[in-house]
Amino acid sequence: MDRNIDFSDFMYGGDYNPEQWLNQPEVLEQDIEYLKKANCNVVTLGVFSWSTLEPEEGIFNFEWLEKIIDNLYKNGIYVILATPSAARPKWLTDKYPEVLRVDYDRTKRIFGGRHNFCPSSKIYRQKTEIINNELAKRFANHPAVLLWHISNELSGDCYCPSCQENFRKWLKEKYKTIDKVNEAWNTTFWSHTYQNFEQIEAPSKIGESLVHGLNLDWRRFVTDITLDFVKHEIKTVRKYNDKLPATINMMHYFGGLNYVKMAKELDLVSWDSYPEWHSGSDYEVAIDTGMFHDIVRCMKKQPFLLMESCPTSTNWQKVSKLKKPGVLELASMQAVAHGSNSVLYFQIRQSLGASEKFHGAVISHYSGTDTRVFGEITDLGKNLKNIKEILNTQTKSEVAVFYDWENKWALENSQGPRNCGLHYMENVQKIYKSFTKLGLNVDVIDMNENIEDYKIVAAPMIYMFRDGFEEKVEKFVKNGGIFIMTYWSGIADESDICYRFGTPHGLIDVMGLRSEEIDGLYDFEENEMCPLNSEEIKFEKTYKSKYLCDLVKLTTAKPLMAYGKDFYKGMAALTENVYGKGKAYYVCTDAEQEFYDNFIEKLAQLNNIKSLIGKKPSKNVIIKSRESENYEYIFVQNFENEFAEFELPKDMELIYGEFKENEIKPYSTIILKRKK
Ligand code: GLA
Ligand code: ZN
Repeated sequence: MDRNIDFSDFMYGGDYNPEQWLNQPEVLEQDIEYLKKANCNVVTLGVFSWSTLEPEEGIFNFEWLEKIIDNLYKNGIYVILATPSAARPKWLTDKYPEVLRVDYDRTKRIFGGRHNFCPSSKIYRQKTEIINNELAKRFANHPAVLLWHISNELSGDCYCPSCQENFRKWLKEKYKTIDKVNEAWNTTFWSHTYQNFEQIEAPSKIGESLVHGLNLDWRRFVTDITLDFVKHEIKTVRKYNDKLPATINMMHYFGGLNYVKMAKELDLVSWDSYPEWHSGSDYEVAIDTGMFHDIVRCMKKQPFLLMESCPTSTNWQKVSKLKKPGVLELASMQAVAHGSNSVLYFQIRQSLGASEKFHGAVISHYSGTDTRVFGEITDLGKNLKNIKEILNTQTKSEVAVFYDWENKWALENSQGPRNCGLHYMENVQKIYKSFTKLGLNVDVIDMNENIEDYKIVAAPMIYMFRDGFEEKVEKFVKNGGIFIMTYWSGIADESDICYRFGTPHGLIDVMGLRSEEIDGLYDFEENEMCPLNSEEIKFEKTYKSKYLCDLVKLTTAKPLMAYGKDFYKGMAALTENVYGKGKAYYVCTDAEQEFYDNFIEKLAQLNNIKSLIGKKPSKNVIIKSRESENYEYIFVQNFENEFAEFELPKDMELIYGEFKENEIKPYSTIILKRKK
């Protein structure tokens, strides 16, 4: 069933924890007044409310929440309702210590902190079912409630006996026989052969940590058991209203869970964005954040929600840096530009004590509205109302780059050519950035996704091949696609077992080459990519390369660049192979950004891929678009603290932001509209 949020505005508001002020009704009244003043229309309730909702086992206290939700609704404020499983009451741990997690080194936790329950614990599941049932019974049909927020920022592994039991069950289902496990994990190496499933122990600091297939399956299991817990929560809250959508809030590049797999089971996806603005180049921060917005958007190829962001500064980053004037709007609009249907903050009212008392909030300790931050929040709320027509519009991209969770796990675990850093994410980001610099939308996708509709697809360091990946790529290129692949691709299968008979596995004909050796470079070393005289793509300069140099034997591919140093000087560093109607390029080494900028620009020109505004955006400006059936909305954002050049394209109407004399103000956004 398609479940959508029934709301006709951008959601604007954030995490609200009124249980901290229940004995101060004047504070709660002031919250409503200020929320309205700030143009907020949604709050997230209940994220950490368990001990207030169920102060003793089986004794429920929901009146306060009922009152608050009713009152919010009366005042035009809607609710995202969270299940409280992310932090549990003390009575629960005291009576049922089995809900406590066991760590990698097999230490059992004691009470404290949050985000640390055992996902297998039957008791924890029973207790969450009871409290979720009480919540849903009362609120699943409340007109204020728009969405279920399941738990909070799910993370972490539990190695307790019951998780291990579930792991063995999971393995039995996957492999059926122990021989298959031994084969998949290559356990004869170091004499680690298992005779039966009962002997299998999860990876551990004090035990097995170097069987890569085991590590990989453990990561897959942790995703599945976490997802199973989420589904268990969703099942309960859905009992009373099957139409209400559910989501989880994800974290910036969090590696512990395969989010893409989890997203398939959710109605919509959301994430918590806390970029470190002003920690260096804000343009670079914007690229990093923008790419994660795109990863999240591509999980369902649908608009997503910005579930949390900070109105000022967090209190957990290295330095609590204030957002300079305008940056709150800039960062929020960036989320909208990439497909968000919301701007939500953590937190509405700043708590007075404990770990987040100095974390930024809509309402600070001062408790007044005459502050810089409150003013910016209020303006943004108003502005979002004015661009309502952009809500629910979609994003279309002609180009895509793979970023794949399982590949990352395998790659980083593999003890391969560099144990001091393979720089997978940075490589994906370099390609993403080059596409973005041309003024293009970019999809950032899992390797299982369909690729046939893209013009260019880039596959940096796709070490692991799975699910017929090579056949998909072959078809794509044969039919006219432009495919870019890099070194250290097609090396191992989904169990991290290496392929024989040459790599990149199954694509030797498509790429027109075979990788024979790969040289790991020390951090202080560099090589060069030197231009060769090729007919189609000519490079004018020599680029630097680092970290890894693949030495390839060409079959049908033509070299476009050659290494400039070391014993492999003169060997191919970039190649092109014509295959069917398409072309496949192989980048042999970790090239500097400028190489990708020039290379991708040339490819875009050759393949008629045009910027969203007809020409390359100027320095520090990022352009992204969303579209409805009849209109295109183009977001032009200047991410640095200086004016940026911009010429208004003739066929576009300015519908948001200030724009004078071919310049965009520092840290600001304009939105243009064009009839399709
Ligand atoms: C996360 C959590 C919130 C809060 C914020 C602080 O996103 O979900 O509960 O701790 O961080 O930035
Ligand atoms: Zn456990």
